[in-house]
Amino acid sequence: MVIFGASGDLTKRKLIPSLYNLATSHYLNDDFAVIGFSRQPLSHEDFRTRLSDEIKTFSPEPVDPKIWGWFRERIYYQKGEFPDPAAYQGLKQLLEEVEGRHHTLGNRLFYLSTLPSFFSTVVQQLGAADLVRQDDKTWRRVIIEKPFGHDLESARALNREISRVLDENQIYRIDHYLGKETVQNLLAFRFGNGIFEPIWNRRYIDHVEITVAEELGVEQRGPYYEEAGALRDMVPNHILQLISLTAMEPPISFDPEAVRDEKHKVLKAISPFSPQEVLSRAVRGQYGEGTVEGTSVQGYRGEARVSPESCVETFVALKLFVDNWRWAGVPFYVRTGKRLPKRSTEIVIQFHRPPLPLFREAGVKQFSSNLLVIRIQPDEGISLKFEAKVPGPKMELGSVRMDFKYQDYFGSQPNTGYETLLYDCMLGDATPFQRADMVEAGWSVVQPILDVWKALPPRDFPNYAAGSWGPMESEELMERDGKKWKIL
Ligand code: BG6
Repeated sequence: MVIFGASGDLTKRKLIPSLYNLATSHYLNDDFAVIGFSRQPLSHEDFRTRLSDEIKTFSPEPVDPKIWGWFRERIYYQKGEFPDPAAYQGLKQLLEEVEGRHHTLGNRLFYLSTLPSFFSTVVQQLGAADLVRQDDKTWRRVIIEKPFGHDLESARALNREISRVLDENQIYRIDHYLGKETVQNLLAFRFGNGIFEPIWNRRYIDHVEITVAEELGVEQRGPYYEEAGALRDMVPNHILQLISLTAMEPPISFDPEAVRDEKHKVLKAISPFSPQEVLSRAVRGQYGEGTVEGTSVQGYRGEARVSPESCVETFVALKLFVDNWRWAGVPFYVRTGKRLPKRSTEIVIQFHRPPLPLFREAGVKQFSSNLLVIRIQPDEGISLKFEAKVPGPKMELGSVRMDFKYQDYFGSQPNTGYETLLYDCMLGDATPFQRADMVEAGWSVVQPILDVWKALPPRDFPNYAAGSWGPMESEELMERDGKKWKIL
């Protein structure tokens, strides 16, 4: 495995710890080796020492010296600038050496964890140095980090450019949400059980709510976030992935193409907003000063390397429709934001109320709706809220919950969220990765919103206090339909 951008954050926080976790759980081949590629002048030994220090901080569990010792011996380093052809010749030589020593049979996984502006450059250079040509016996795969483009046009251009060098079956566009156990469990829950699928449609479901809330602000990522904003950062990728897994039809098999075909159909069925609909069904917000978990925090405009007049949104709420036979007329309300009261990602399925208020004479005025809550993180689990009779001589109803917590059944495994993704890529299973058409379909949903928001800069930013659930308009989006966001 070759990591481009090896001195960056992702390498130390996620990639190396997840390779180490794969090694501890015996999922890493004995013949594995990893090469870091970056512009810093380091020797193999420097790089090994650096990673040995960092793993202590970033491994979710105490590091086993024996396993780390084994892994450490398999780490190499190549210095180079991404656009410099000579660096790829150096890499080629090193690869041949390492492949001979570790018997990797020429199979190569290239991980592009660089600035997005280098994705295409690195792929072109890999092609020019003849490092990615496959044959019957060897595979060559490239994982590309997000963001994949910054709008529809740039995503299309990037797809075009990399497809000149790579076949689609060599390209693994990563979305780390698809590596989360609870996200993968959406498929198991829906298609591994007989009782949910018959009611998983417009006849029984009133609406779907998806919240991806973070209590953190933008931290050190000001410059990136100033370019991206919450819409680009979260919606075309993570949120649309959650929608497609929630809404997709059963695939004909668990073959990667069969699953991705069904997900792609959902994305294509999300009707893009007209400019008028952007105004009525898309809400944006930016946090001002406030209090998060008892601590006062500054507003977005006061964050490091953020413009004091920034008009970048840190909150988005949308009302979407999946226009197909199963979901016609069922709103999907989604919201995501920074500096909300807590970190919580949940999918809430709200079912229709019973058709007749049968207990009216007994004083029951209105039924609550049944809710199925899928908690992606934290406190991973699933719960079903339903009505029960409150004990006593009167007919009174109270809401109760049936609760499943992952922790109770499966314990917790040391996991950074990248293990399954790396493992699947090494096996050639592209199911949890984005295909070119999926990425473009995602951007097509978001593009009209980007266009209108660009043309009409916000006039009321900051419009929510850090530590609140976003701007008033987000509540109004629900209230107009006689609904309220569920309390998380
Ligand atoms: C990343 C975004 O893709 O996802 C970040 O760039 C965001 O802004 C992160 O914080 C959220 O991921 P998670 O796994 O913490 O929910």
